[in-house]
Amino acid sequence: MDDRPPLKLMQQISAYRTSQCIHTAVELNIPSHLSHGPQSASELARSTAVEEGLLSRLMDHLVNEDIFARDESARYELTEVSRFLLPESANSLHPWVECELHPLYWQAWTHLTEQLRSGTPAFELAHGRSFFDYLSRDQMARKRFDAEMRAASLGMGRLVAQQLDFPEGTTIVDVGGGDGYFLAQVLKRNPGTKGILFELPRTNDDFHPDMTDMIRNQRAIVEYGSFFESLPPGGDAYVFSRVFHDFDDAAISQVLEKARAAMRTQARLFIIDMMLERTQANTGKSSQDMVMMLLLGGRERTREEFCQLLAKEGFECISTTPTNTPLRILEFRHGVINGEPAT
Ligand SMILES: C[S@@+](CC[C@H](N)C(=O)[O-])C[C@H]1O[C@@H](n2cnc3c(N)ncnc32)[C@H](O)[C@@H]1O
Repeated sequence: MDDRPPLKLMQQISAYRTSQCIHTAVELNIPSHLSHGPQSASELARSTAVEEGLLSRLMDHLVNEDIFARDESARYELTEVSRFLLPESANSLHPWVECELHPLYWQAWTHLTEQLRSGTPAFELAHGRSFFDYLSRDQMARKRFDAEMRAASLGMGRLVAQQLDFPEGTTIVDVGGGDGYFLAQVLKRNPGTKGILFELPRTNDDFHPDMTDMIRNQRAIVEYGSFFESLPPGGDAYVFSRVFHDFDDAAISQVLEKARAAMRTQARLFIIDMMLERTQANTGKSSQDMVMMLLLGGRERTREEFCQLLAKEGFECISTTPTNTPLRILEFRHGVINGEPAT
């Protein structure tokens, strides 16, 4: 019998080392410094104002991990992989590194065991406040979060927006719409429609430029508030894009109660989220589920779980649309309880 510890387990245990090295490389702007061509260790140390011997050890590890490369003159250079760490590259992962590997998140992970015992989200245990409350008071953390959401949206938001068709005259309420990038893409695709971005109050009006254009052209407005209190009334389509995975079932039921109160009979509710599959291994999605649990006490759900949860609150699923992304679109009408019209 082979009693050597399994290699995969050893790699999994030490995976955080490389994560942190990537964060440091991004903090030092190393991908941007190398974007003009290869640099020796001493050139790179000068550009980044750090100690050369230590820097070359960091870079050597990242070369061994295939993130950077070393040419025949021992100069460091970008690879196809590290190009995705350039802030300006298409589908850049730079905002993801800045947010996900920030000590704010790391510190939360150190409270995971305590969360399992107490049920309180690890982020709250680490920082004394819920995630979104924290963001509402820390402008830089909010900016990093919006940039991460936007980075994910830039890849997916446009593709998802292409699956949403609304007739002229429709008012679309993007609930928890972040910096408005996604709403702006939906409005661009659907001429003659108007949008309301509904978000928590924030310390600055830092919206995506496409959203700023929509506001300037009077196609969109912003309303601040909490969906636990109320939603803007009178919309035709209420869109919750990647919002429900942030919350547990009880919290979602509260939001749905407010949605029902705001929605006219003909109005529709759309959920756009990644959906777990009951029968598959959910590779990648289970780690996303852990982040939701840790930061917010939220969870990823299957399509069936979404439909059951909404059915309890009188919403009936009337269509499911796959997209060319990990996200799916579920459309609901309301006014029904277990298939019967609500009184
Ligand atoms: C995961 S982000 C999704 C952002 C955007 N919809 C997207 O798909 O990129 C969730 C958003 O919900 C907002 N949010 C959280 N709690 C809220 C509340 N109580 N009322 C309104 N918005 C809220 C957050 O500020 C955040 O922008």
